[in-house]
Amino acid sequence: MRAVGLTEFGGPEALTVLELDEPHASPGEVRIRVRAASVVPADGMFRNGALAARLTSPAPWVPGTEVAGVVDEAPDGSPWAVGDEVIAIVVPFHQRPGAYAEHVVVPVGSVGPRPQSCDFDTAAALPMSGLTASALVDLLHLERGESVAVTGAGGVVGSLVVQLARRAGATVLADAAGGDEEVVRGGDYAQQIRQLRPDGVDVLVDAALIGASLLPAVRDGGRAASLRAGQLESERGISIVSVSVWDYAEDSARLRALSSLIDEGALVPPQVRTFAMEDAAAAHEALGRGGQRARSVLVF
Ligand SMILES: NC(=O)c1ccc[n+]([C@@H]2O[C@H](COP(=O)([O-])OP(=O)(O)OC[C@H]3O[C@@H](n4cnc5c(N)ncnc54)[C@H](OP(=O)(O)O)[C@@H]3O)[C@@H](O)[C@H]2O)c1
Repeated sequence: MRAVGLTEFGGPEALTVLELDEPHASPGEVRIRVRAASVVPADGMFRNGALAARLTSPAPWVPGTEVAGVVDEAPDGSPWAVGDEVIAIVVPFHQRPGAYAEHVVVPVGSVGPRPQSCDFDTAAALPMSGLTASALVDLLHLERGESVAVTGAGGVVGSLVVQLARRAGATVLADAAGGDEEVVRGGDYAQQIRQLRPDGVDVLVDAALIGASLLPAVRDGGRAASLRAGQLESERGISIVSVSVWDYAEDSARLRALSSLIDEGALVPPQVRTFAMEDAAAAHEALGRGGQRARSVLVF
């Protein structure tokens, strides 16, 4: 099968099309014929070697954490059947290839139904990022009426957090177009939040990984969440919340719930831009440039 991967860490040019043996599903797993795999920030770290310590197999390495596709192997007793259209989170650190491949094998719990209202390309941007946002909002135990400031709200995880926090009854700052004007990039974010909320917000979600300079935005005793563990340290009684999506890599019920929300029109999926799998290097160059406002998706 064809996959996109690397034999040496490096820039986008390190990514090449590889010919690999097809993986096969064992009991408790399914194999998915990948239709689309998204290109997420962690893939850039995988490619440049920043995550090398987590790799457990020799080269070649295949990055990628989320796919949409069709089940094409489902051992007896599987909750999934051949032909099911699905989304899945892929943990790319093991020996089996990551998501940038024509076939991936994942535990049955890593799979959820493809939202029927999304095509495969859009659906591919949902599983890993959606699990992250959903788990984070649950971990924050938001109460109705609480104020939540979200950085990186124009990004994929941030935009999903904004929507899920609003569904939980929170008042979100940095929300959509109006929010973009209220809390502009490059200024003193915390100070601007304080102008809007003199006592500080109840909750901060730093999906842009800006870091400790944001904590003054949070009221004494509030909560602050970072998408990178260890980036924020508690002060003034603020609770620090962190999430690792890998803890939710077999939370099929959560994936099913996300799909349902999208099909009900209660959650707007991320915008995507497609690249042929052969153009993965160009997708990674775009990732490095930032400012995309759409998730790059490799089509297989
Ligand atoms: N802990 C976990 O398990 C977990 C899981 C998933 C993701 N993550 C991490 O979460 C972060 C967000 O992921 P994502 O998929 O949402 O990425 P994304 O789609 O690229 O979104 C990040 C957003 O933050 C914006 N941003 C970056 N620097 C900023 C700044 N200084 N001020 C304001 N906005 C800024 C970006 O804008 P520009 O594009 O214009 O720069 C972009 O809109 C990534 O670092 C990712 O690695 C962690």
